[in-house]
Amino acid sequence: MITTAFSPAKVNLFLHVLGRRQDGYHELATLMQAIDLQDELIFELGGSGIRVECSDDQLEGGESNIAYKAAKVLFDHVSDHPGIKILIKKQIPIAAGLGGGSSNAATVLKTLNELFGYRLDQQQLIELATKIGSDVPFFLFGTAAWAFGRGERLVAAPNLPSLWLVLINPRFAVSTRDVYEGLNLKPKIPLTKEGIKFNIPEFSSVENLVSGLKNDLERVTLALHPILADLKKCLLKHGALGSLMSGSGPTVFGIFAEGKDALRAAAELGREDALSVFAVRSL
Ligand code: C5P
Repeated sequence: MITTAFSPAKVNLFLHVLGRRQDGYHELATLMQAIDLQDELIFELGGSGIRVECSDDQLEGGESNIAYKAAKVLFDHVSDHPGIKILIKKQIPIAAGLGGGSSNAATVLKTLNELFGYRLDQQQLIELATKIGSDVPFFLFGTAAWAFGRGERLVAAPNLPSLWLVLINPRFAVSTRDVYEGLNLKPKIPLTKEGIKFNIPEFSSVENLVSGLKNDLERVTLALHPILADLKKCLLKHGALGSLMSGSGPTVFGIFAEGKDALRAAAELGREDALSVFAVRSL
């Protein structure tokens, strides 16, 4: 039996680092929105063990792939070890700040849970997802969300406007760990269940959202790669209402008033050979 599932990317429309925790992670308040740039995952039941293959040479299949890790965490949890082959057809740029790997992991958890009838509920899947990576729980949540803690405490963000975005990825990878390390914060936030106080901004219109765009990680990634500041300006010159880096980067995005503006900007910016450019919509 063969099953296909789609695995969307995300952007962070707001990312505030509240501080460094004593476990080395950073306490976040971030607004995450899934977009219609998606990888395709093809699941084939049978054989023995977990086999992961990837269409993109830059990304290894096998045990080092986060999709393998997700399948293993799930099978270990339910003490079942069926044979499965997972082929990942990549569209989402790798190590790009778009959550591609995290999304693949979430899609594996959700799809295998359904395929094998394990009947884990959303909360149980989110708990497993937290073991795999900080952004994985978001992709199981189902709507745009504010993420707190490491990224695993989620609150729905239901009033967001639907968006047209243009993404520019400069075709180099950035290490999330290095970017967080580059903030150079002293560990001081104790691990408490409540986290620390943060007032969620109201982002119910495109204007509100654009005026509130913020990503504390830009300080590090833009200093390492000054071209990213130029790309943000480029998006504004091509009609974006606002622009920002997503996650730890290096992908930057612009928010556009209308689809036709985004499509035109993407066509113009896409003529540059060294860049991957995508016009996308929020999901
Ligand atoms: O959780 P994940 O493995 O995806 O995170 C990758 C790296 O990013 C972590 O090892 C950590 O260095 C950093 N990180 C962080 N604080 C977060 C999320 C990630 O410091 N909230």
